[in-house]
Amino acid sequence: MNISLVGRTAIVGGSTQGIGFSIAELFAECGATVLLLARNREKLSEKVQLLPTQNGQKHDILVADYNDAVTVELVVRGFLDDGGVCDILINNTGGPAPGLIENAKPDDFMAAFTSHVIVNHRLSQLVIPAMKNRTWGRIINIVSTSVKQPLAGLGVSNTVRGATASWSKTLASEVAKHNITVNCILPGATKTGRLDAIIKKKTEQQNITEQEAIASMEKEIPAGRLGDPKDVAGLAAFLASDWGAYITGTNIAVDGGRTNTF
Ligand SMILES: NC(=O)c1ccc[n+]([C@@H]2O[C@H](COP(=O)([O-])OP(=O)(O)OC[C@H]3O[C@@H](n4cnc5c(N)ncnc54)[C@H](OP(=O)(O)O)[C@@H]3O)[C@@H](O)[C@H]2O)c1
Repeated sequence: MNISLVGRTAIVGGSTQGIGFSIAELFAECGATVLLLARNREKLSEKVQLLPTQNGQKHDILVADYNDAVTVELVVRGFLDDGGVCDILINNTGGPAPGLIENAKPDDFMAAFTSHVIVNHRLSQLVIPAMKNRTWGRIINIVSTSVKQPLAGLGVSNTVRGATASWSKTLASEVAKHNITVNCILPGATKTGRLDAIIKKKTEQQNITEQEAIASMEKEIPAGRLGDPKDVAGLAAFLASDWGAYITGTNIAVDGGRTNTF
């Protein structure tokens, strides 16, 4: 089976590191032209140089902060107005800060809702009309296994992930007839900057070492190891390719079996 994305252009959110960058790298390796989208121009300019170009692709960057939905929309609109194409949209950004839900402030929910639901929604609205014209499109949302089973100490995140999954499922049924698929990938504990922050919080809260925190996480994972961002990227590439044409409206966990539901 050859997973080819040759001739496709992908906008990949949150792609200077972690899961987003891994997806961008694999998409480029599969032949796609990639637009890295995040808020740090310097990091984006460095990372775009690392993307494979064996098919003569000209990758580029888009700079915007997901906390400011209006600017993200303006930046992507500008790209499309200048003749840019988006066949594949990866909705991804940094996760909401960890914390108990009983301590969460209303503004914490508002901020997370903006960067995880409103931005996804506005970007999808921008790219869907041209996807419909081409009768081909892929929208993939990087969410969390907390869609299926809430995670302790991630109150705001758990709440907003449910909303993202519900938005995604609804959109999937509306656009499926245009050969546009919309899916959520639910990473488990995956070795990235985001996980480092969660591990650090655990060491402080439970007064344990980093190794002990990692070991206790691995104990809960039937596969016995933390995930690699490439584990997530592989599924994203499959869903983004022609092989994924009949998969839509799903929430697929990439978690080594950790989630204790179907
Ligand atoms: N890693 C895990 O174990 C895990 C598990 C479940 C779910 N997830 C979720 O998967 C998603 C990606 O996680 P990750 O582990 O890859 O995170 P990460 O390593 O922290 O990377 C986050 C990426 O998003 C960008 N970003 C952060 N805030 C942004 C903002 N306001 N505007 C634009 N870009 C922003 C960052 O770029 P700049 O800072 O350079 O802008 C970076 O490229 C998150 O929603 C996370 O919660 C992760």
